[in-house]
Amino acid sequence: MIVTIKAPELKIGMFIDISSSWYKNPFWVDKFTITSDDQINKILDAGIEKANVDTIRSKAIIKGLKDINNEKEEKNYTIIKNEDQEKKQVLHDYHNQRTGLLHPPPDNIFDNIFATNSDDLLTSEIKDAIRDIKSPPDIRARIIYRYGLGVMKYLFNHPEPEVIKASKKELTYITEMIVAEPKTASFLINVVSNDKNIFTHCVNVGIKATLLAISMYGKTDKYDLPELGANFFLHDIGATKIDTNIVNKPGKVTDEEFEQIKLHPFLGYKILDDLELLNFDTWTVTMHHHERADGSGYPSGIKKNDIHPFALICGIADVYDALTSRRLYRTDRNKPVAAIKIIMDEMLPHFGSQLLTEFVLLFKNRN
Ligand SMILES: [Fe+2]
Repeated sequence: MIVTIKAPELKIGMFIDISSSWYKNPFWVDKFTITSDDQINKILDAGIEKANVDTIRSKAIIKGLKDINNEKEEKNYTIIKNEDQEKKQVLHDYHNQRTGLLHPPPDNIFDNIFATNSDDLLTSEIKDAIRDIKSPPDIRARIIYRYGLGVMKYLFNHPEPEVIKASKKELTYITEMIVAEPKTASFLINVVSNDKNIFTHCVNVGIKATLLAISMYGKTDKYDLPELGANFFLHDIGATKIDTNIVNKPGKVTDEEFEQIKLHPFLGYKILDDLELLNFDTWTVTMHHHERADGSGYPSGIKKNDIHPFALICGIADVYDALTSRRLYRTDRNKPVAAIKIIMDEMLPHFGSQLLTEFVLLFKNRN
């Protein structure tokens, strides 16, 4: 992905293209990785005002980049990529750290809106337990799941801007723990509640999509997985703008009601975008998790390569949860093995073999 930034924001490790300023270029090449402050000074001294940064080829950790070609949207770009001098800050180093995070969240991480506003799921015990990263991984998996339920339930009951912002933060911490605690993660695949609540659905999808994203990208350090994971949890937040009688309707919905439901991806995107909670990589999750490769999905009907893999990851977890839970306009439900079989038999053209294979593997070699 290419982001155009102001020259004073250049940093060592960025892979840049300054071909548009060739007449001022003090170097022999247009595209290269910045390796010294000297190079940055040369660029500034030459009067070059902006540069295109290739975020995929960059080796720096870059946060809060703003694309000057798209300034009115004021999107923040978060790019994380491994490099020796920055290893301490990348997700790769979180792996295999069973005893705790390399950068443990501060003690007060959960002392925000949820510390004073509780409901039946966010008890003080669960708030204390979430901090205890030394409990056994199977117990820890249940605590993380339960905490996720508490956050999402509170969010759906109080979908106000401050709560949404606080929830995003909590969910980012939760997914950071999932990324950081592989043993806990291995138990999480089987921790599930199959009630019909939408907040339960959000947690089930959030966790399974996060586990799939870790399988796909965990070793590349290319993406901000906790940020992505939080978006998986929030994928159905648009449902808070739809009549709860329709969202929670136990039986089949009418065509008219389904038209309402089909609005939730865009409504969710709008909620998060208005609160500036989306970044360049992850906005697609909320917007496109119901798109399908043949164009039969909604809300845009986009096809195949136009659908971002992050949206497809969320889509697989979403379909799996729909098949295995009592939610989604049905009272029966499939057993996990049957659901996997249905997905493999019927969803291959929608999601592609690589993602589906990785998803199925999540259930193998697990506890
Ligand atoms: Fe959805």
